Amino acid sequence: MIDKAEILKAKILMVDDESSNIIVLESALKQANYSCITSTTDSRKAASLYQELKPDLVLLDLRMPHLDGFQVIEQIKQIENDDSYAPILVLTAESDPSVRLKALQFGARDFLSKPLDLSEVLCRIQNILEVRLLNKNLGAQKDFVEQRVLERTADLKLANQQLKKEIAERERSEKELQNVNQQLLHVEKLSALGQLAASIAHEFNNPLMGIRNTLEQVQQGTTMEDSLKELVELSINESNRVMNLAHQLKDFYRPTSGTPQPLNLHNAIDDMLMLKKNDFNKENIQLTKEYVECLPDVRVVEDQFKQVILNLLQNSNEACKKGGAITIRTKVLNSNVEVEIEDIGQGIKQQHMEKIFDPFFTTKGEVKGTGLGLSVSYGIIKKHGGDLKVRSTEGRGTQSIITLPINSNGEESI
Ligand SMILES: Nc1ncnc2c1ncn2[C@@H]1O[C@H](COP(=O)(O)OP(=O)(O)OP(=O)(O)O)[C@@H](O)[C@H]1O
Ligand SMILES: [Mg+2]
Repeated sequence: MIDKAEILKAKILMVDDESSNIIVLESALKQANYSCITSTTDSRKAASLYQELKPDLVLLDLRMPHLDGFQVIEQIKQIENDDSYAPILVLTAESDPSVRLKALQFGARDFLSKPLDLSEVLCRIQNILEVRLLNKNLGAQKDFVEQRVLERTADLKLANQQLKKEIAERERSEKELQNVNQQLLHVEKLSALGQLAASIAHEFNNPLMGIRNTLEQVQQGTTMEDSLKELVELSINESNRVMNLAHQLKDFYRPTSGTPQPLNLHNAIDDMLMLKKNDFNKENIQLTKEYVECLPDVRVVEDQFKQVILNLLQNSNEACKKGGAITIRTKVLNSNVEVEIEDIGQGIKQQHMEKIFDPFFTTKGEVKGTGLGLSVSYGIIKKHGGDLKVRSTEGRGTQSIITLPINSNGEESI
């Protein structure tokens, strides 16, 4: 319901060329306590007054000079440009029903016949204003609700974006955690296998040494047929090979211990290249050295570092077959030294890449490879605070990259 006081404050515009009509109506309205009444006898001013006042009700005569009531209605419609224009109450002396009908069709809300019955006029005005104000309130509420809906939608959109961001963040964290877990698993696996390997190696080493020594004595002490000599020699070589393997197995868990000392890595690499020189020559493998000019000394346990270089050179050698090429590069990157051994060899199959650091993983057959080279090397480099990565493209070649910190502050033995 609309408050009566609110109705009395409604704006009313009166357009009638008869000033007597205006006077009568105005006084009736004022007596009824309406407070915002504007009137004109010049219908040409109706539109501008309407625009200025935005009245809640227009009391409009139909028959007027210059512009008749229908034309005024047209102007008002144009001003509002939609259906929300104020209700128009037509005041007419016309008795012709077709004119009244036309007024209603034009957009008048109601009409009153002249001469006017003032009490009826006041009743109609109050009713029409009540409906008008109710409509206005409803419109305002609708606008308010629409505004709230827009605000809430914007809030929800923002919350949704935030949620999406959080989900992405969580997924990233979970992936990182998964990676860390996998690394931990890898380290644990290496460590467990390493312990097992070391204890087996320890058990093997002594009896093997005994067998080899006996064979050596047999070799030195007696004259033998050539074929037997050959067999003894073969047995000694095989014992050496197995002892070497046992030694490597032990290293896998605990490589030869020692205190890291500043070492010129170029010299250490050159020593290992000397060992491999013959093999490279025999297999026509072209060797290129790309050493950085000033390589700072790096704290490493010398024979451990050399063992890693030898393992990697051996892998490249075996991957190259005849007529391949191997390049050794050194670089200084930030606070690290990088040693890269690159070969143009057979490369590593994609499906093998995740297994190459596993102990005993080999593609070289049981006789030729033990599958310990990379896992031992990895363990050594990690213990030095560095990293060992292998990149490879099958059919193209492989890069094994050692990274070592220049200023490792380790004095403890490794
Ligand atoms: N430079 C390389 N080119 C091609 N394959 C490689 C290379 N380095 C490693 N691999 C692959 O990784 C596997 C594991 O290497 P790893 O050095 O650990 O063992 P291995 O060479 O097989 O045996 P060993 O114990 O005698 O070194 C190899 O069998 C090979 O398949
Ligand atoms: Mg190897």
